[in-house]
Amino acid sequence: MNLNVRTATAADVGPLLSLIGSAYRGEESRKGWTTEADLLTGDRIDEAGLLAKIAEPDGVMLLVTDGDDAAASSGSGGALVACCELLRRSHGLGYFGLFAVEPRRQGGGLGKRVLRIAESYAREMLGMERLEMQVIWTRAELIAWYVRRGYVRTGEKRPFPYEQLVSGARALRDDLYFEILEKDLVGSEEAISVVR
Ligand SMILES: CC(C)(COP(=O)(O)OP(=O)(O)OC[C@H]1O[C@@H](n2cnc3c(N)ncnc32)[C@H](O)[C@@H]1OP(=O)(O)O)[C@@H](O)C(=O)NCCC(=O)NCCS
Repeated sequence: MNLNVRTATAADVGPLLSLIGSAYRGEESRKGWTTEADLLTGDRIDEAGLLAKIAEPDGVMLLVTDGDDAAASSGSGGALVACCELLRRSHGLGYFGLFAVEPRRQGGGLGKRVLRIAESYAREMLGMERLEMQVIWTRAELIAWYVRRGYVRTGEKRPFPYEQLVSGARALRDDLYFEILEKDLVGSEEAISVVR
């Protein structure tokens, strides 16, 4: 599949909310191989939160569409298949988050491609030298996936934001926290270039 990558605008909020909602939680997310459905109910993010990320001056929401889709060649854009967020922290450190692949397209290598694209974008367009991310500690299969992609478990733990879940969302466990993983982008052999 050919992929088209661009930064999201406010007009993308509806499709992005559907994609993120279906990938992270609820019954649809169980069609993928990793999900938060057993940990949390309700939405991962709401419209206001997503609009704030799109408008964030120190970051981007990247949106990936199917370049082979008939709609892509007609100029109206192909189907939305994946997204992620990059946010500048400090001293060359960036944050990678809100990573989602449409559940029916998971497990076929799309996530790996999108992660490599995001890493290249982070390094070449945003000047990031390292990327960090946070994963809920119980998601061992997802942590292992990132480790196979070159991310290192830093040992740092951060509290789960129980008090800041979006309206209607609920945690199903009271022992959640985040594990922090990090990758050095500068020495990455897998690095590919973003076409400007
Ligand atoms: C995480 C996510 C983005 C990965 O995208 P993807 O397209 O499924 O990823 P890929 O197809 O590139 O990789 C599939 C990998 O999963 C592994 N996998 C497939 N089924 C699996 C299973 N049942 N258990 C464990 N691993 C499995 C494959 O072995 C492969 O890894 P490998 O190539 O290292 O062997 C996607 O699953 C997703 O959107 N998940 C829900 C949202 C989420 O949790 N986001 C991340 C928050 S930090």
